[in-house]
Amino acid sequence: MKNPAGRIPSAAAASARKRRRARPPAGGPYQLSLVDLAAKPAAAPSGGADGAAAGSVPQAPPEQAAGRSGGRRETAESIAARQREISVSEFFIKNRHLLGFDNPQKALLTAVKEAVDNSLDACEEAGILPTLKVEIRQLAEDRFRIAVEDNGPGIVKAQIPKIFGKLLYGSKFHILKQARGQQGIGISAAGMYGLLTTGKSLAVTSRTGPGKPAHYYEIQINTRNNTPQVIKDSAVEWEPEHGTRVEIELLGTYKKGRRSVDDYIRQTAIANPHCEIWYAPPNGGEVLHYPRATDSLPPEPRAIKPHPYGVELGMLIRMLKETRARQLKAALQLDFSRVSPRVAEEICRAAQLSENANPHTIAAHEAERLYRAINSVKIMGPPTNCLSPIGERQILAGLQKEIRASFYTALTRPPAVYRGNPFQVEVGLAYGGDLPGDELADLLRFANRVPLQYQQSACAITKAVLSIDWRKYGLAQSKGALPAGPVVLFVHIASAWVPFTSESKEAIAAYPEIVRELRLALQDAGRRLSAHIRAHRRAAEEQKKRSYIEKYIPHISIALREILGFPAQTEAELLANLKIVLERSRARERAQEESDG
Ligand SMILES: Nc1ncnc2c1ncn2[C@@H]1O[C@H](COP(=O)(O)OP(=O)(O)OP(=O)(O)O)[C@@H](O)[C@H]1O
Ligand SMILES: [Mg+2]
Repeated sequence: MKNPAGRIPSAAAASARKRRRARPPAGGPYQLSLVDLAAKPAAAPSGGADGAAAGSVPQAPPEQAAGRSGGRRETAESIAARQREISVSEFFIKNRHLLGFDNPQKALLTAVKEAVDNSLDACEEAGILPTLKVEIRQLAEDRFRIAVEDNGPGIVKAQIPKIFGKLLYGSKFHILKQARGQQGIGISAAGMYGLLTTGKSLAVTSRTGPGKPAHYYEIQINTRNNTPQVIKDSAVEWEPEHGTRVEIELLGTYKKGRRSVDDYIRQTAIANPHCEIWYAPPNGGEVLHYPRATDSLPPEPRAIKPHPYGVELGMLIRMLKETRARQLKAALQLDFSRVSPRVAEEICRAAQLSENANPHTIAAHEAERLYRAINSVKIMGPPTNCLSPIGERQILAGLQKEIRASFYTALTRPPAVYRGNPFQVEVGLAYGGDLPGDELADLLRFANRVPLQYQQSACAITKAVLSIDWRKYGLAQSKGALPAGPVVLFVHIASAWVPFTSESKEAIAAYPEIVRELRLALQDAGRRLSAHIRAHRRAAEEQKKRSYIEKYIPHISIALREILGFPAQTEAELLANLKIVLERSRARERAQEESDG
C-alpha cells in the first residue's frame, strides 16, 4: 500500500496494520509471528486443531513459549560457566580453511608459499639478492617434509620461538609498506598444521652472521594459549654464513599442473626476476634451477604513516590516546602522513577544537567531530615510496625468461589510493609463439609479487579481466569468460596493505578504485596487443600478395612476348617495370590502410 504522505509509516501504525492482516484462515495452518505474540501474550485458549479451526491462535506449551525446549535448561550461570577466552590458535585450528589449509593439495602449497614469501621478504629487507632452496620429500603417500632455505639476514635467537610458535606475531603488521607478509600468521600457522596432522615439530636453523653460531630449534605451538613450546634448542655447525632454513612435516598431496607447488615456484620466478631458486620436487625428480634475470634488487619500499583519509573513527581515537604529542595540532602532524602545519590548523578549525587541546583527553564526541573534519579538508594523496612495483623492464624480463611468445608488453600505472592506502597496478602480456591458440588465456595474478593461485573468480583481478571486451583487441571471448587465444596475462597489485578477502591471502577485494585501475591497465595492454595483431596480419597479407606478384608476373611477361612477339631483352625490361608498378600500387594501398587505422 502506498503511503500518501510519502513518509515512512510509524512502527506502531505498521504493527497495527499487520495485526489486522494477521487473521488466521479458518482451519488452515497458522504461523505465529512476533507481532502476534506481543499483541496477545496472555489470551491462551487451549491449542490444537480445534482451537485453530475456531479461528484462535494455537499456543505452544509454556516452556516453548518461554523460549526453551526439551528437558535441558540453561541458566545464565550455567552458560557463564562455559564462557571463556578462545585462543587465536584454537580459532584457526577450527577455521583452517581461512588460512589456506582446507585440502591436502592446498596445504602443501600454502606451507611452501608461507616459507618462501618470508624468505624473499627477509632478503629484500636486508638488501640481499635472494637465493632460495626449496625441497619437498615424500615420506608416505600423503606425508611430506618440506624445507625452505634462504640466504637472508637470519633471525635473532630469542625471537625464533615466538616467530614459529605463536600466531599473530611478526614484524610487518604495524608497518605500512609493501611486503609479501602482512599478518604475522603465515609460518606459525604452517607449523601448527604440520603438528596437527603429523605430530612433528617445526624445525628451524638460523644464523645471523659469519662470526655468530647457528641455532637449531624444534618448536611446537601450544594451541590452548597460543604460546611456543621449545622441544629442542642447540647450537649447530651450519655452512651458510647467514640465513634461515625452515622444515615442516605435514599431510598433503603433491600434484603437477595448475595450482601446484611447481607452478607457484615458476610464477614466483617470473614476478621476482632478481631471485634465484633451486627447487627439488618430490619423488627424486630433477632439481629445477631458476636463475636470476637481473642482479639489481627492487627499490626498497619506505614505511609511511597512515593517511588521514584511510583512518576509521575507532583507530583515530586510539591514535589520539597513544600519541607522543602533547597538543592536537602536533599529534595530527606527527602521526599522519601529508598533514602539514597548515592542514593541521584547518582540521582543528573545521572540528572547532583548539590546536593546543590535549589529544589524550579528547572526548568521544570531539573525536567524532575531528573525524568528520579530516574528511572535509583537502589533503594531498599519501606518499607512494612505500610501494615497490616490479617495473616494466623486469616484468618483460620475467615473462621472456619463462614464456616463449612472439609479442610481449608490460606497463606500470601511476600510484592510486583506496581507503587511504596507496597501491599500484601493473600488467604484462605475452602473445603468440609457442602459446596454445585454442585455450582460455592464462591469467597470472600477483599481489606484492606473490602469485595467487586459488579463488580466482573471487578476485578483483579476474573481475576486471572479465569486465573487458577483449574482442575489441583481437582476441576471441565468450560471454562472461576469460579471453581465448595464445595469450598470458600477468597482473600485479602492489600495495602497502593488500585488501585480501581472507587470511589465506588468495583473492583481492574488489574496491572500486582498484578495479578501475586494473581496467585502465588491462585496456592499455589490450590496445598494444591489437596494434601488434593488426601489424602482424598486415605483414602476413603483404607477404602473401608479394608472393602472388612474384609467382604470376613472369607468366604475364611470357604471355605478352608470345602475343606481341618482342625480343627477350624487352621481356626482361617489361618484367622489371611490371614489378615496379605493382609494388608502387601496393605501397599506395598500404599507406591508405594505415591512415584508415
Ligand atoms: N626466513 C626468515 N628470515 C627472517 N625473518 C623471518 C623469516 N621468516 C619469518 N621471519 C620473521 O617472522 C615474522 C613472522 O612471520 P609470519 O610468516 O608468521 O608473518 P608475516 O610474514 O609477518 O605475515 P603473514 O602472516 O602475512 O605471512 C615475520 O614478520 C618476520 O619478521
Ligand atoms: Mg609470512
